[in-house]
Amino acid sequence: EKGGYDWFMLKEIAEQPQAVADTLLGRLGPAGELVLDEVRLSDQELRDVDKIFVVACGTAYHAGMIAKYAIEHWTRIPVEVELASEFRYRDPVLDRSTLVIVISQSGETMDTLMALRHAKEQKARILAICNANGSTIPRESDAVLYTHAGPEVAVASTKGFLTQVVACYLVGLFLAQVRGVKYADEVGAIVENLRKLPEHIATVLDEMEPVRELARNLADENTLLFLGRHVGFPVALEGALKLKELAYIHAEGFAAGELKHGSIALIDQGTPVVVVVPSPVSRGSVHGKVVSNIQEVRARGARTIVIAEDGDDDVVPYADHLIRVPRTPTLLAPVVTTVPLQVLACEIASARGLDVDQPRNLAKSVTVE
Ligand code: M6R
Repeated sequence: EKGGYDWFMLKEIAEQPQAVADTLLGRLGPAGELVLDEVRLSDQELRDVDKIFVVACGTAYHAGMIAKYAIEHWTRIPVEVELASEFRYRDPVLDRSTLVIVISQSGETMDTLMALRHAKEQKARILAICNANGSTIPRESDAVLYTHAGPEVAVASTKGFLTQVVACYLVGLFLAQVRGVKYADEVGAIVENLRKLPEHIATVLDEMEPVRELARNLADENTLLFLGRHVGFPVALEGALKLKELAYIHAEGFAAGELKHGSIALIDQGTPVVVVVPSPVSRGSVHGKVVSNIQEVRARGARTIVIAEDGDDDVVPYADHLIRVPRTPTLLAPVVTTVPLQVLACEIASARGLDVDQPRNLAKSVTVE
């Protein structure tokens, strides 16, 4: 049932091009319009939304962080992202014009469910992004967008995550469409690029042999650091989480701009640092700043593992290991840049002789608060 793979996780990583295609299936119209009939919130309700909370746990929370960048940019609605386990305990300001997007692969995560119930009591509208059909979270929500990733068996979420991110894009674009904000110019091009994502993921997967080799090489490390900026920051957090849960190696993700505010002190001779580099065409020259960060950590002894877009030559002199990904618009890039980090964590855990599908102390769905 693992389809010839050693682990369910490897099978699920390989299924990602299809999973993302299935998330998009039937939801992009011929003229680039979004067709989300299943979102049973009226156009008026969607126009009335003046604030969005995205609430989730673990990997789904990282998807939510990416959603914030995309939804705010496309809709100009303020978006806050919050860990479900924190959300209701700090008395968030919610009312009828608040949209709460809850993200959960399993649809059974207790922290997320309790956050949802709290938001519902305060009269907020609830939209669930979920993979498991008919699970508790979508049943209790006003509307649901299923990710259609197929069953995810490995404890570590992979295709669950990529499809959550894509579903968040669909919600953001749909809101922009209904509200008529910024739609005409940028959004049409984004839709075209969404259609290319499955192919881009497949391209990344075809080139994973050097990552597997690197993983064998890193198997005895005690610490790995992950840096990213803009949407690359949640990707860095996700890369670190995968490594912690699978390989039991201490790993931390940082916003690259925060390095100089403290964390750069951690860099020592040989410390492996994974850097998720934004596209050279990214807004406000964040690219150049991240390239400087690579130089800075390398000057202090770091061994740099750089994930950069095809054709980005600026990173070449500072990369001890270079992993290439296809060119993708900045906001969509996490769907391709996360993939090598999944493979890296999975292969490091495998090289350490660990049970990749069933890491210690973890359960696939966490049904206690
Ligand atoms: O089923 P959910 O998406 O609600 O699960 C949320 C987290 O428990 C989950 O993403 C967890 O962090 C994974 N083990 C990460 O790989």
